[in-house]
Amino acid sequence: MSVRRLAPKELQPASFAFSDENLAWAKAQITKYPPGRQASAVIAILWRAQEQHEGWVSEAAIRVVADMLDMPYIRVLEVATFYTMFQLQPVGKKAHVQVCGTTPCRLRGAEDIIKVCQSRIHHDPFHLSKDGNFSWEEVECLGACVNAPMVQIWKDTYEDLTKETFGKVLDGFASGNPPKPGPQIDRQFSAPAGGPTTLKEST
Ligand code: FES
Repeated sequence: MSVRRLAPKELQPASFAFSDENLAWAKAQITKYPPGRQASAVIAILWRAQEQHEGWVSEAAIRVVADMLDMPYIRVLEVATFYTMFQLQPVGKKAHVQVCGTTPCRLRGAEDIIKVCQSRIHHDPFHLSKDGNFSWEEVECLGACVNAPMVQIWKDTYEDLTKETFGKVLDGFASGNPPKPGPQIDRQFSAPAGGPTTLKEST
C-alpha cells in the first residue's frame, strides 16, 4: 500500500461546509451515540464529506468534521489516512477504481485488471485519466476473496472479473450506466459457479 498523505496545498480547497441536507444527516448520526461518544460517528460523517466533495477528503473537511465531533484534528486525520475508503486527493469524476492486489486476487488475475487500469486510465495509480473521469489504485483485501479478482468503485464491488468484463465495467461508468454490482459471471453472490452443489432437494 502506498503512503497516504493529504493532497498538496495547491489542490486543497480553502474551506469546506456541509450542505444543509448533509449537515442535518450528520447531526442525526451524532444523536445515535451516547453523550461523550460522538466520535463514534467519525467514519460515517467523513464518508459523507467525501461524497459531497467530489469523492475525496480535503484538509478543510477533516477540520470541520473534527470540530463537529469535538475531536482533535489529528484524530480525524488518523482515521482519514488509515482507511483506504477515504481518498486524500482528487479522483476520477466518474470512477475511482480500487483494485484488490492481495494474494487470492493476485492468484486469480488481479495483474490483468491492473494492466487494464494502466492502459485505459493512467500508467500510475492516483493519477487522473486525460479526461479527468477515472483514476485507480491498488488496495489490500476488500473482503470478497471468494469472488476474486475484484475491484471496488465508490460503494460497490465488481467481482469475478476478467480483462473483458472489467473493461465493460469501465465502459458502463464512462457512459453513466454502470453494470449491476457483484459477480460479473453467472453466479449468485459467492455461491459455487455453475449453481448450488449441495442442499439441492427440497423436503
Ligand atoms: S484478496 Fe482480494 S478481496 Fe480478498
